[in-house]
Amino acid sequence: MLCEKPIMGWNSWNTFAENINEDLIKKTADIIVERGYKDVGYEYVIIDDCWALKQRENGKMVPNPELFPSGMKALADYIHSKGLKFGIYSCAGAITCAGYPGSFGYEFEDAKQFAEWGVDYLKYDFCNFPLSANKENAYLTMAMAPRNSGRDIVFAACNWGEENPSQWMRSRGAHTYRSTGDIFDNTKSFTEIFRSQVSNLNGNGPGCYNDMDMLIVGMKNKGHVGLGGCSDEEYLMHFAMWAFMGSPLIIGCDIGNADKATEDILKNPGLIAINQDDECCPPFVMKNTGMYYTMAKILSGGRIAFAIFNIDEQNEWVQNISVLFEDLGIRSNSGLKVKVTDAVTGEDLGIHEDGMWINVGVMKFRICVCEVINEKN
Ligand code: GLA
Repeated sequence: MLCEKPIMGWNSWNTFAENINEDLIKKTADIIVERGYKDVGYEYVIIDDCWALKQRENGKMVPNPELFPSGMKALADYIHSKGLKFGIYSCAGAITCAGYPGSFGYEFEDAKQFAEWGVDYLKYDFCNFPLSANKENAYLTMAMAPRNSGRDIVFAACNWGEENPSQWMRSRGAHTYRSTGDIFDNTKSFTEIFRSQVSNLNGNGPGCYNDMDMLIVGMKNKGHVGLGGCSDEEYLMHFAMWAFMGSPLIIGCDIGNADKATEDILKNPGLIAINQDDECCPPFVMKNTGMYYTMAKILSGGRIAFAIFNIDEQNEWVQNISVLFEDLGIRSNSGLKVKVTDAVTGEDLGIHEDGMWINVGVMKFRICVCEVINEKN
C-alpha cells in the first residue's frame, strides 16, 4: 500500500524555490543518508516548482537542461541508488504557480513521462486552474493517471485546503492533501495552520493523510519562506504538532547547513515514533480553549499519548492543566495504574492513577505516552 504511514522526506521549495539544480538535489540526497536522516525515516527527495522549461516540446515537459543537464532519469537513478525515493512537482492548472507548464489536459501523458523517469511521488498544485473546470475531477484524473502509468507514485494533492479537501480528497485518490495555504517561517504561520486543522484530522489513516505543509524547522529566517524565523524551542513545538497530528514530515530547510539543534529536532525519536506509529490512529481534541489545546492519540500496543499545546501568546502565565485518564478512555476509580513517559525527552514521569497535573508555559508544549499497567506487564 502506498502511504501507509505519513510520508517523510525533504522538499526544495521552502528554502530554494527557483534556485534548484541537480547538484543541490544530489547533495541533499547524500546528506539525508550520511547524516542519518534516512535511518530515522526520511525517504522522499522532492523537487518542487521551477524544474522545467517554460514551454513544452512535442507536447512533453522538458527538464531545464541548464539546471538538470543529466536529465530526470539519471537524477532518479542517483536518488534510488541511495535507497531513497524521488518526488517531482506539477500543477492541476495549465501553468504552475511560478509560471512553468502544468498538467491540465496532459495528465496521462505527464504521468507516463514521470513513471519513465522513475518518479515515486507527485506533488500536484492548484495555480491557474480554470474556473470553468471541475476541481474534484481534475484531482481524480491525476489520481488515475499515475495508477495507470506502470509505476507506484504517491499522489500528493495540493489545493491549499479550498472547499475542505478532508471531505473529498481521499475518495479522489490522493495519498496526501495539503489542507492550508503556504507556511512561512514564523510562529504566527505555524500556529494558525495548527488551529485551522486541529479538528480536521479524523480522516487521517493508512493511504491518505492531511498534509499541513512542509516543515519550517531550522530555516532560521533564511530562504524563500524565511519570514521572521523562530527559536529552536518554537521549531520543536511546530515539529511536535505536525508529528502528533499525523501530518507528513517534509523537511524544508537547507539540511546541508543545518545546526545540531535543528538536526536534533528533525530526528527526535519519540516524536517520529508517534507520527509513524503502527496504528496510524488520528488524534482527537479533548479541550480547545483557543489558548491551549489538549489532544489525545491512540498508539499501538494499547498505549495512548496526550499532548498539551499552549499557544497563548497574550498571557504570561504558565497553565497548570489537569489531564484525567478518564478522558483517555481509562476509567477513573478503576485501580488501573498508568506509566507515563515524556515523548520528547524519554523521561520517566512515574506511575499515576486517575490523572495528573502538567505545567505548560507560554508557547510551550508537553507530549506524554501513557501505558496501562496490568497483570500481564
Ligand atoms: C504553491 C504551493 C507551494 C509551492 C509553490 C510553488 O504556492 O502551495 O507549496 O509548491 O506553489 O510555486
